[in-house]
Amino acid sequence: MPQTKSKRKTSSRSQSSYPGSRTNSTSRATSRSGSGASQSSSGNTMLEKFFYDSLKDIYWAEKHLTKALPKLSKAATSEELVNALDEHLEVTEGHIERLEQVFELLGKKAQGKKCEAMEGLTKEAESVVEETEDGSSTRDVGIIISAQKVEHYEIAAYGGLAQLAKTMGLTEIHDLLGQTLDEEKQADESLTGIAENTINLQAEEEGEEEEE
Ligand SMILES: [Fe+2]
Repeated sequence: MPQTKSKRKTSSRSQSSYPGSRTNSTSRATSRSGSGASQSSSGNTMLEKFFYDSLKDIYWAEKHLTKALPKLSKAATSEELVNALDEHLEVTEGHIERLEQVFELLGKKAQGKKCEAMEGLTKEAESVVEETEDGSSTRDVGIIISAQKVEHYEIAAYGGLAQLAKTMGLTEIHDLLGQTLDEEKQADESLTGIAENTINLQAEEEGEEEEE
């Protein structure tokens, strides 16, 4: 996409509001057209930098998830839930590969940047496991809700980035991110199905037994 330069509406704003994000403010004015790199432009605009940083965030998040999902699967009891979590682990590996393709299309190094949100969500999931009884459906309910919180974070991230890629004219990247977005939505729906069809009811019965 042609880099729509200088949309400096807020020219009154101090130039030092993002120090270091560009070596100097004239660089983008001089290094624009010409060098038609890969899918993207050179990644010099503020938006391009933001896009790249956001990809690094979700890349880290996905990698982190590949460590968290096996723990949740191990802690779960319902076979259906265990299968869903294991299956999502495989799907997640695919998301990582897709992101690597995205980095390649951008002509950028595939690297992660710590995602505080994903770290928090997985920590919370671990607390849910610790605070619930082993072998209980209540724990399974907690795991499902924790996993859905993760899915919703990812849906928001991929949804936003896919849309942004479209706006930036990065068609191939838009398609890749869109595929992952669809898979995250599917995962979310299948978790809802498991909860509604069996586990929530089982957990409710379990609650009655233990109420004293
Ligand atoms: Fe994912």
